[in-house]
Amino acid sequence: MTAVKLAPSILSADFARLGEQVREAEQAGADRIHVDVMDGHFVPNITMGPLVVQALRPVTRLPLEVHLMIEEPDRFLDAFAEAGADNLLVHVEGAVNLHRTVQHVKHLGKKAGVVLNPATSPVMLAEVLPDVDLVLAMTVNPGFGGQAFIPSMLGKVRRLRQMIDQVKPDVELEVDGGIDHATAPQAVQAGARVLVAGSAVFHQPDGVAAAMRRLREAAA
Ligand code: DX5
Ligand code: ZN
Repeated sequence: MTAVKLAPSILSADFARLGEQVREAEQAGADRIHVDVMDGHFVPNITMGPLVVQALRPVTRLPLEVHLMIEEPDRFLDAFAEAGADNLLVHVEGAVNLHRTVQHVKHLGKKAGVVLNPATSPVMLAEVLPDVDLVLAMTVNPGFGGQAFIPSMLGKVRRLRQMIDQVKPDVELEVDGGIDHATAPQAVQAGARVLVAGSAVFHQPDGVAAAMRRLREAAA
C-alpha cells in the first residue's frame, strides 16, 4: 500500500471560521494545511497574505504549506517564513531566478517546493530538482478552487515520478487541483504521494471528517 498524504486547501474553507475548519481538518487526519496565496497578477484572483499564516500558526501543529501564486515571490519569502510557514512553494513560471529563490527558501530553514503549471514541461525542473524538497504539479490552471481535473496531466505526473525516482527519490510529488474521490486514485497511480484538495474536503455536505475519509479510502 502506498502512503499518501492529504493536504486540505483552505481556499475552499469557510473564511468566517477559518481556525475551526483547520482544527477540523487536523482532527480528521490531515498531514499538512495548504495555503493558496494569490496576488491578482500571476493569477486572476486575490486571496491571503502572511497575516493569515500568522493567525493560523497557533491553531494547528500541522505544517503550513504556502503555495505562492504571485509575481516576484522572492519579495515575500521572509514574511511568510516569519509568519510561520513550513513549506514555501514557488512557481517555475513566476521565479525568474529559480535557483536563487530555492536557495533563499533553504536559507530560511524551510522546505522548498517548485510548482509547474499545466502547460509547463517537467524539463523545466531538471537543473533544480536536486535542490528541492517538493514538486507540485498543477492539475488545473491556478487561480480558483472547484475546477475540473485536467486528465492529460496524468502523463506529466508519471514523467515527474520517473525523474524524481532517478534523481532524488525523497522529493515529495504533490498534485493540486480537481482532486476528489474519482481523480485521487488516478493521481496516486501515476505517482503522486501528496494530494492537495479544497472543494473535496471543505465543500462536502457530510462534513470535513467524512470527506477526508472518502479521499483517503479512494487514494489507498
Ligand atoms: C488553485 C489552488 C488549489 C485549489 C484547489 O489555484 O492552487 O490549491 O485550492 O482547489 P480544488 O481542490 O477545489 O480544485
Ligand atoms: Zn494550491
